[in-house]
Amino acid sequence: MTQIKNICCIGAGYVGGPTMAVIAQKCPEINVTVVDINEERIKAWNDEDVENIPIYEPGLSNVVKEARDRNLFFSTDVDAAIDKADMIFISVNTPTKTYGIGKGMAADLKYIELCARQIARVSKTDKIVVEKSTLPVRTAEALKNILDNTGNGVNYQILSNPEFLAEGTAVDDLMNPDRVLIGGDIDTTEGKKAVDALVDVYAHWVPREKLLTTNVWSSELSKLTANAFLAQRVSSINAMSELCEKTGADVNEVSKAVGMDSRIGSKFLKSSVGFGGSCFQKDILNLVYISKSFGLHEVADYWEQVILMNDHQKRRFAAKIVQTLFNTVSGKKIALLGWAFKKDTNDTRESAAIYVADYLLNEQAEIVVYDPKVKTEQIYADLDYLNTRSSEENRARVTVVDGAYKATKDAHAIAVLTEWDEFKELDWQKIYEGMLKPAFLFDGRRLLDRKTKENIGFEFYAIGS
Ligand code: UDX
Ligand code: UDX
Repeated sequence: MTQIKNICCIGAGYVGGPTMAVIAQKCPEINVTVVDINEERIKAWNDEDVENIPIYEPGLSNVVKEARDRNLFFSTDVDAAIDKADMIFISVNTPTKTYGIGKGMAADLKYIELCARQIARVSKTDKIVVEKSTLPVRTAEALKNILDNTGNGVNYQILSNPEFLAEGTAVDDLMNPDRVLIGGDIDTTEGKKAVDALVDVYAHWVPREKLLTTNVWSSELSKLTANAFLAQRVSSINAMSELCEKTGADVNEVSKAVGMDSRIGSKFLKSSVGFGGSCFQKDILNLVYISKSFGLHEVADYWEQVILMNDHQKRRFAAKIVQTLFNTVSGKKIALLGWAFKKDTNDTRESAAIYVADYLLNEQAEIVVYDPKVKTEQIYADLDYLNTRSSEENRARVTVVDGAYKATKDAHAIAVLTEWDEFKELDWQKIYEGMLKPAFLFDGRRLLDRKTKENIGFEFYAIGS
């Protein structure tokens, strides 16, 4: 069997960073080098104070502390790391295309292709190339084509090893995964050897029965399917939340009753202001695009509805705020508690908060934001990216503060957009006293206790009740 001694990972992001840190911690005899073209990011990963690493994940700094400079390295020297490695993980981002054919739907594979060309140019020994980024089905084939035709005559095996970690629980998900999926060319001896080499890496800490091997295409499609199913559950319960609001049913009670059916299960049934994150929307759009390109229009429409429902939920929440505040928020101060797409992460990609803020800004509201982990520049960058108004205007109309009490002082309304635990512990009586009356509280995460807040005097609205 091929014994892996040197691993290189291209992309030091939310997936590459934590995944490699855990591999390095669990496999002390393997050297792991994480490379990235972003110098700032690499500098932050190497920061002397391990609390300054660029990604906030509970438990991650301890893992990095243990392995960094022992067998875990962060570098910008991509060529050197590729040259040395037996196994190369590609973990660069694959955003939705913003131009040309497939605009707004297909995955943009330009970074993946650049990586493949760089690997082909540099490699002088055989390599196992592992797709860690989520990719459209049959991308491995394209990768192989580039590597075989532009390379230096060395042999490549391509594996698909999709990541199932969720942000906020990444370290735990990596340490105790439900399963690890490894797709490869299992019908050939060389392919099987490559798959076994990666199985061996994970077997350092994951029980063998959880290491699933499949052909490459099943592995690629399984990742898209898993994310589509998870997102579909959120859209399903969110669809019910609107019906609950009309009928007097309580979505939490419905969710509990439905989730206790062991065939359905209780996870991913929490209604919210809408799912966010870097994966769900992108992966479903990708699935829709692939289905359409094969002429499977019913399949495409079926999955697209999950996204349409999610867009509706975000819009509906923002519209409810305007409507409740006597149909105008012009000049009114609205405090947003939370900007990250979920708790315990500083990631804001596709966060519902961005869209709610944008909607309220279009209605001329003054927005004040507090999030425990998201940096001020990130909040402005997220709004600027939408291109709805000038960056100067976003800075004039949105204020970012460093505490919930500051954010809510003199506000007309509060919208809870991320379920950070600390929001549950706030002194809501004090907050109420600091606000203009009537004081409105909109809970987009169903985080807060309705009765107590109403007893304090808030006009209280929660998704689905
Ligand atoms: C990853 C996957 O790539 C994505 O497909 C999957 O769906 C989720 O996980 P993530 O780690 O969250 O994305 O992305 P990001 O945090 O943006 O990290 C990607 C890194 O790759 C960035 O730091 C970027 O600088 C780096 N990169 C990108 C390179 O080093 N080289 C490139 O050519 C492009
Ligand atoms: C997801 C997948 O879970 C993970 O396996 C994959 O590798 C990447 O995509 P992530 O996006 O990090 O992970 O977070 P996840 O916990 O799945 O949450 C996604 C969004 O759905 C969040 O905005 C979250 O708040 C929302 N959500 C989740 C709900 O609104 N209700 C729920 O019941 C669960």
